[in-house]
Amino acid sequence: MKEHPDGPAIETIGLVKRFGDTKAVNGVDLTVRPGTVYGVLGPNGAGKTTVVKMLATLLRPDGGEARVFGRDVVRDPDAVRGRVSLTGQYASVDEDLTGTENLVLLARLLGHRRADARRRSAAMLDAFGLSEAADRQAKNYSGGMRRRLDIAASLLNTPDLLFLDEPTTGLDPRSRNQVWDVVRTVVAAGTTVLLTTQYLEEADRLADRIAVIDRGRVIAEGTPGELKSSVGAGAIHLRLHDTGQRAEARRLLEKTLPGAEVALDSDPVALTARLTGDGSAGAAAGHASRALAELAAAGVTVSDFSLGQPSLDEVFLALTDAEPGTIAGAGAGAADPGAAGEGVPAAGDETDRNTTSVKEPAA
Ligand SMILES: Nc1ncnc2c1ncn2[C@@H]1O[C@H](COP(=O)(O)OP(=O)(O)OP(=O)(O)O)[C@@H](O)[C@H]1O
Ligand SMILES: [Mg+2]
Repeated sequence: MKEHPDGPAIETIGLVKRFGDTKAVNGVDLTVRPGTVYGVLGPNGAGKTTVVKMLATLLRPDGGEARVFGRDVVRDPDAVRGRVSLTGQYASVDEDLTGTENLVLLARLLGHRRADARRRSAAMLDAFGLSEAADRQAKNYSGGMRRRLDIAASLLNTPDLLFLDEPTTGLDPRSRNQVWDVVRTVVAAGTTVLLTTQYLEEADRLADRIAVIDRGRVIAEGTPGELKSSVGAGAIHLRLHDTGQRAEARRLLEKTLPGAEVALDSDPVALTARLTGDGSAGAAAGHASRALAELAAAGVTVSDFSLGQPSLDEVFLALTDAEPGTIAGAGAGAADPGAAGEGVPAAGDETDRNTTSVKEPAA
């Protein structure tokens, strides 16, 4: 079958994988457009690695269909392997070899001649900021350096599709940022990336679309913005100059924003209006400017104002009724049902992101 130039990079229909009685993957449908980053987000044991392994032809599906660039992973695995590369969840570099030795060895295994293998390896080490560490054994690398070496190894032959299975789990924020930059560079060069992650923030920052999976099933799919709007339209946060005007401000917000839930914050000058409606950024901005105009006309002085979308944490909790700690970092406040119900302050969105990005290193 000829590959359609505009066809999907990945297409799965009803994909199933069982391990004994465990349905690790239980009817997964995915469509990934070429040239995009697709995030597969889910807690431990959701089935992320199993999906990736089937797509990379390392595991045989028990049911359903999966095609990579139009080629069936079961009937045409060689054609699939020729186009994909995988950076697995667990580092695959040889600890006793140096950075250069690792890459040269792999490049030789991929069929490159010695001189070419050396040239490519040097170029990759340079691109990944590892030139200085090129002659050190990988066991003396930091977690971030090791991860970068791993990804460099999977890019020795520029793949059309790169699988990154939890590329930043256990990394500190700086190393994580370096890996994100690498992903952006790879995509800019035309490679499609399928990325699994437990980090909502990571999916939010990198992915064009996200599938949230839980217990082997896709429970939501869309752009990060669509997923956020699916749980609500966001919130307007206000701080007033004078606490005496708060009751009036509340009354005006309730009048101007039909259906909005207006709550008084513990800070005596602050209040929050949770918006309802279609959830588009434009609609929320329209509501916000109307509310501000109304307050100004009534002589209520606003000293601080922000408008925020719900966080992906709220999306995840709304979708999975997840127990605290089932998704990385959610234990740090975001998994508190109170926090989810009252919403994360818009101005605190960054704070919230920071909590989601902190995770215990994998055991
Ligand atoms: N080789 C295997 N044999 C038996 N069960 C397995 C095997 N591989 C995975 N499983 C089970 O399948 C389910 C999905 O596992 P998978 O590794 O795909 O999850 P994951 O989403 O990648 O999780 P994590 O975030 O922990 O990496 C789990 O219940 C797991 O225990
Ligand atoms: Mg996994």
